[in-house]
Parts: sequence; C-alpha cells; structure tokens
Amino acid sequence: MRSFAGRDILSLKGFERAEFEHVFEVADDLEPIARERRNTDLLAEKTLVTAFYQPSTRTRLAHEAAMHRLGGHVTGFADAKMTRAGDFYQESIKDTVHMLEYYGDVLVMRHFQQGAPHEAARWASIPVINAGDGWGEHPTQVLTDLYTVRREVGRVDGLTWVCIGDMRMRTMHSLAYALTQFDARMISIAPPEMSLTDEFKAEIAEQNLVIEEAEHIRDVIGEADVIYMEPVVQADYTKGRDERGDDVGTTPDNYRVTRELLAEGAKPSSIILHSLPRMDELPTDVDSTRHARYWQEAYYGVVMRMALLALVLGAVE
Ligand code: CP
Repeated sequence: MRSFAGRDILSLKGFERAEFEHVFEVADDLEPIARERRNTDLLAEKTLVTAFYQPSTRTRLAHEAAMHRLGGHVTGFADAKMTRAGDFYQESIKDTVHMLEYYGDVLVMRHFQQGAPHEAARWASIPVINAGDGWGEHPTQVLTDLYTVRREVGRVDGLTWVCIGDMRMRTMHSLAYALTQFDARMISIAPPEMSLTDEFKAEIAEQNLVIEEAEHIRDVIGEADVIYMEPVVQADYTKGRDERGDDVGTTPDNYRVTRELLAEGAKPSSIILHSLPRMDELPTDVDSTRHARYWQEAYYGVVMRMALLALVLGAVE
C-alpha cells in the first residue's frame, strides 16, 4: 500500500481496497477524540489552509473542526471574491497556490472548475485535498459516507446502494469509483438530463461494477440497503456562486424519499445518506425515522477529515 504521507487526495479513482480499509482504521483510532469533544496535540505543529472558491458549510468547517480537534492551526478563505483570484486581477491557481503553500502544510480546495485541485497539486509542494471540483469529484465526502456505512451497518461489502438524484454530482462519481473496490450493487435513479454519461458508466464497468438504472424510487426502494441521495432541484456546480431564483421548482416523486414510501417499501434495516444541503427530495419528517443517518454522516465527516489530515501530514502511518 502506498504511504499517505505527503499525498494529495484528489480522486477516489485508483484508490485501492487496502487504502480504504487503512483510512477507516485510522478514523476508528481517532474517533474517540471527536466523540469525547477533546482537542489533542497530534498536529500542533501544522497549519491547514482552506481555499474555497464555492460556498460550503460542511466540507470547509469539518476540515477546520478536524484540524482543531488535532491541535493544529487554520487559515484560508471561504469566499474567493475577497481574494485577488476573485477581483480585477483574476489571479491564477498557479500564482495563488505558490503563495498558499508558504502559509501552511496542507491545502484543502473547493473550486467550480473540474480539475482545479489537480492543477493546484501540480504547483503545490504540500498535500492538496479536493473538497469538490465542479461536477468532478468529492472524495472526502464519499470516504465519510463509506465510513458512516461501516459504522452504522457494520460492513461495506454485500450492500445494495440505491443512488437517487442528480447523478452529475461529484459525490456520485467518487462513490462509483469507490464501490468498484467493494462487493456492491449500485442502482441509479435520475432524470435523463442528470444521468451518468455512457462514457462514465463504461469506465466503471471496466472495473467490474455495472451500474443499473431505474425510473422511480418506488420500484427499487425494497432492494436498498443504502439510499444515497442528492437533490435534483440543484445549483449549477460550474459556477462560483449560484443565486436562488424566485421559482426553484419541486422534485418529481421519482426522486423523493418520503416517510410514507419508507413505511410501505423499505427494508427496516436500510439507511439514508444525504451529503446535504437538501431541498424537497428529503422531507424533514424523515429525520425521525429509523432510516435517517445523515446527521451521523455529518459527525463522521469530522472524524474522516481528522484521519485524512493526520495521514497526509504524516502524523500517523
Ligand atoms: N456535503 C457538502 O459538500 O456540503 P457543503 O457544500 O456544505 O460543504
């Protein structure tokens, strides 16, 4: 297995089974720190730099919370408009990264351009973590999601994942890459204009995961062990910021998971993950059902970022 020390986390493509297992084990070791709301000094000598060119609640703050839990320092920006990259100068990623690498020891970047964190990693001498790039990937979210399943279900192998919503989403791409490393079945349900491309499905099939498709959640909810959700009433992830219009629309029933549907057709043991934020595809009255695990998912988001930061900064092997 490749060492994580000094490594970029840009994609789950090519992430090996043993690497998933290792990250989960490190997360298990560090989890009590978060659970007991302690701060340690594992990364006391290290600084995290956050560079967010798109809005975020969870991903940026979970990385920052993780760094605080491990005793490290944090600097960075949550709005590129307040930097020279977002004003008259439109400073390039290359020039920006040449600065940021002097300000800390690991860089977490979210960007509206697919591949921007990869571009940053070309120029940075410190590890770069992809916090979401356009429609590309969201590797730390999916590591969080797999870890949540492992903790909540007890295993990742042998499960059927029903993925519902906008399949262009970066989480869906990272998830498909990840599931190629497990004994998994993946069924997608998406509006035609939000489906996975044939090219992407072929790429995943080459790794022995054939992604099945369904039209309505009602038809497959009974097969799901994990119901993995994204909105279809969706922002444009190729923009730095997508303001909400007056009429955002509503989600067709095909892509909604309701309390009634769960009661009628879901396995009692099935769990719902949603990386959030949600729109009307996941009504709030689902929160009190036995299926909801998205708040646990948010908690494990901190634990997973603790593991990743400790690994790439070489504090644990
Ligand atoms: N899950 C997630 O990526 O949320 P944010 O957009 O709030 O970071």
